[in-house]
Amino acid sequence: MPDPIALVPLPRSVVWSEGVWETSDPWAELSVGVNEDLAPAEYSLSISPRGAALSAGSEAALADGRNTFAQIVADAHGSIPCVTISDQPKHAWRGMHLDVSRHFMAIPEIEKMIDAMALHRLNVLHLHLTDDQGWRVEIKGYPRLTEVGGWREQTLVGHMSEDEDSWEFDGIRHGGFYTQQELKDLVEYARRRGVMIVPEVDLPGHMQAAIAAYPELGNVPERQVGVREVWGISDHVLGVSDQVFDFLRDVLTQVSEIFPAPYFHIGGDECPRVEWERSSEARARMNEWGMTRVSEIQGRFTQFATDVLREQGKKVIAWDEVLDSPLPDGIVIMNWRHGNGLKTSTERGFQTIIANNEHLYLDHYQADPEGEPLAIGGLTTLKDIYTTDFAPQPLSDDEQKLVLGLQGQLWSEYLPTAEDVQYMAFPRMCAVAERAWGSPQQSYEEFLERLRAHLPRLDAFGIRYRPLD
Ligand code: ACM
Repeated sequence: MPDPIALVPLPRSVVWSEGVWETSDPWAELSVGVNEDLAPAEYSLSISPRGAALSAGSEAALADGRNTFAQIVADAHGSIPCVTISDQPKHAWRGMHLDVSRHFMAIPEIEKMIDAMALHRLNVLHLHLTDDQGWRVEIKGYPRLTEVGGWREQTLVGHMSEDEDSWEFDGIRHGGFYTQQELKDLVEYARRRGVMIVPEVDLPGHMQAAIAAYPELGNVPERQVGVREVWGISDHVLGVSDQVFDFLRDVLTQVSEIFPAPYFHIGGDECPRVEWERSSEARARMNEWGMTRVSEIQGRFTQFATDVLREQGKKVIAWDEVLDSPLPDGIVIMNWRHGNGLKTSTERGFQTIIANNEHLYLDHYQADPEGEPLAIGGLTTLKDIYTTDFAPQPLSDDEQKLVLGLQGQLWSEYLPTAEDVQYMAFPRMCAVAERAWGSPQQSYEEFLERLRAHLPRLDAFGIRYRPLD
């Protein structure tokens, strides 16, 4: 941000209301407008003693500029600086992923995370709504998804060891879900702050909660499984009957209608094939579909979901395992398994979002586990995120153009409360945000200096972040 060139008095009140800034001091009004001469992602903000003006190349860029203005006003102590800022992000996708399945998060707590995202010019909230341990979205016509699938009787305590006999459980029922209206309201809350919510319905694996609600969705319809109470990967994946595909069509269509974002995430990660291998129905389906390998079945799900979602005008995103079976063109790959996957998917011509578990999994420890709350494992420090090269294998110019952006992941197996989520998110998301925006990279020490000045803003938002060392 340029140095202030003059100081003018602070307006008495500047409040955000229905998308416009209002103030009791006429000079401090922010005039806003889309200017098609600017690049779509660019905004230009000027604050002078005569007032403030913001123009931008698109509504999305306008939101970034408004958030910058809000930050300047919130920072001002008695006066606000006169500045001229012209800026645009490097990446269109500046994301944060939130897993509300492993632990349910109340709407006001998600709103707080959205506020914090806007402060950091993060513009995509990837909401992981379904998984083995809990189904969180109301689907009309399938009440048991939330009545049954939204709740687990108890939860594993501590790390999940190999030795099942040593597992201990807390004996506490956990769950919850969001109505369609609550989610629509959340979408609107986020939109007003320049944040798009992209839903994920994880398929065909990570579906045990749905199968617990409706056993006929699984591969052994006569078997009743419960909502999963431990972490890891479940073998209970979707079956291959027409009923399953009808179910998916209903779910994908209804969820599309809740979330107007042009993107939809279909998961696709960690789908074991053991149940398909044992299922005579799956064998019969493979013959019908002309398949020779069980692994091709996942490709059928990817194709089906993509067809349904394209009818809804959506662009499909999936975790990078979908690259291992046949898949339609035009899918966006979310690269999580290894940084090198970025090269693999862009080389094959797929738009890709960097979300790798070496540097962007914020459920990993952020310092020596000795002094930290229990986490799933790993170690990803603030410095790692600020300094790492996210493209370990160099990309050609054409491949580089396919990189849509970056995203930090907040998986919640070990994050039972909103405060736990905040602690793992911040300040590491501050570094993700800078990298995603493409701010000129400085030394880590300079970044830390700016971060120290930034932490009071997180305090003002009531965010419980991990203190700096
Ligand atoms: C993942 O971490 N299973 C995407």
